[in-house]
Amino acid sequence: MTVQAIHESVTNLQADTLVVGLYADEPLSGAAEELNRATQGMLTRLQETKDLSGKRGELVTLYAPSGLKVRQVTLIGLGLRSALDRSGAFRAAATAAKAVAGKERGLVAFYLADRWSSELVESGVCGSLVGCVGQDLYRAKKNRFPLTQVAWANVSAADIARGESLADGVNLARRLVNEPPGDMYPETFANEAVSVAEASGLAIEVWDKQRLEAERCGSLLAVGKGSDRDSRLVILKYNGGPEGAAPIAFVGKGVTFDSGGLSIKPTDGMKTMKCDMAGAAAVVGAMQTIAQLKLPVNVIGLCGLVENMLGGSAFKLGDVLRARSGKTIEVLNTDAEGRLVLADVLDVALQHQPAKIVDLATLTGACVVALGTDIAGLMTNDQTWADEVKASGDAVGEALWPLPMFPEFSEQIRSEVADIKNTGDGRWGGAITAGKFLEEFVNGKPWVHLDIAGPAFLDGQKPWLDAGGTGFGVRTLVEIARRAT
Ligand code: BES
Ligand code: MN
Ligand code: ZN
Repeated sequence: MTVQAIHESVTNLQADTLVVGLYADEPLSGAAEELNRATQGMLTRLQETKDLSGKRGELVTLYAPSGLKVRQVTLIGLGLRSALDRSGAFRAAATAAKAVAGKERGLVAFYLADRWSSELVESGVCGSLVGCVGQDLYRAKKNRFPLTQVAWANVSAADIARGESLADGVNLARRLVNEPPGDMYPETFANEAVSVAEASGLAIEVWDKQRLEAERCGSLLAVGKGSDRDSRLVILKYNGGPEGAAPIAFVGKGVTFDSGGLSIKPTDGMKTMKCDMAGAAAVVGAMQTIAQLKLPVNVIGLCGLVENMLGGSAFKLGDVLRARSGKTIEVLNTDAEGRLVLADVLDVALQHQPAKIVDLATLTGACVVALGTDIAGLMTNDQTWADEVKASGDAVGEALWPLPMFPEFSEQIRSEVADIKNTGDGRWGGAITAGKFLEEFVNGKPWVHLDIAGPAFLDGQKPWLDAGGTGFGVRTLVEIARRAT
């Protein structure tokens, strides 16, 4: 879909729906003021009865308003003008788009970007295209009808195009997560990555089981052993920067279904475990957007794709694995599989001599206990790099929060029989022991680990987003790539 830039006034435009923004701390201006005049002061009357305040997220719908050539007007509160940031623009537009997309629509025109910076416009456009997409991929009776005709008033085509590229990356990541695990397994995920690479001009390598064996990825392969679906490793390369300049590496956990393996999860913990490839999905989504934006930077994206299942060949508690790096790992819980996958993927990433690494993984429930469902845990071996990653997340409104990497946590992953073991001594601090485990495989390279177990997947909807995959991390990764230029 292409979003068009329009310049008609709210009173002249023939459309299905107008989305108009209001601030909490400003008198009606721009499109809102025009709308007020055309409707003989309807907005003023709503303000008088306190039905309209412009507070952040407020949604008021006017049906069949007289004096206008539209079916409805959706008013969305933008809060304080001075406080409006990219996250606010994204959420406001997404909230309105989600509400509007409850029915099939013709042209929906967004009149929000009054005196907005390019960055706000881009985020708003992105939100308008993300909010209208639901998770009812396989439902005959849809909850959400993705908008097919979208217009943004008084913005540049370039800002629109960037917003669309971002939204496409976010929605791609969301779809990959939302696809059921019976359909989305290592091979089919890799096929999706190939399609993305072909369409956006990325180079791609897919390692199948045979290649993974030849590459001695014994840790990753062990996790997939109980599954009838063979494991894969995907390497996406984008070379927009100077030839030979060290790339940034983005590494994603792609466990397409996490049953827990022999350390099997109970039903409640397993229900949403199709989301365990959200890190890999974010990497693919971000690589697509980075390629579309033609950012002048070299980036490499790696996804470790496995299905963690039970079966006669499943890896076992007490097994000792030899990772690609040569380190041996004692398995004491087959449900701590993400770190086993990432151990090998991080080692492959190192081979490409990256300047810096970010990994994204739905790695631990402990991280959700620590930070809740909206915030990703950030762990690092390099404070400067962590600050850059954190600033990128802050800028786009994806919340990242540091967890301390005290050396004491490393003691918990010492093993009596192997170089390390794959769990800590108990469940306390589990997000950090997992981070410490990963640190063993980055060989001192500047590295940030984002545990996205909380924010990758919504159990229930938010005003601006339906439940299911959120695409968390895509916008942060794109922002990191932008800032690296
Ligand atoms: N994929 C899970 C973590 C997870 C939990 C993601 C909730 C999203 C929502 C991970 O593989 C896992 O099972 N971790 C274990 C680690 C433990 C066995 C050391 C956990 O968190 O319980
Ligand atoms: Mn697990
Ligand atoms: Zn997992």
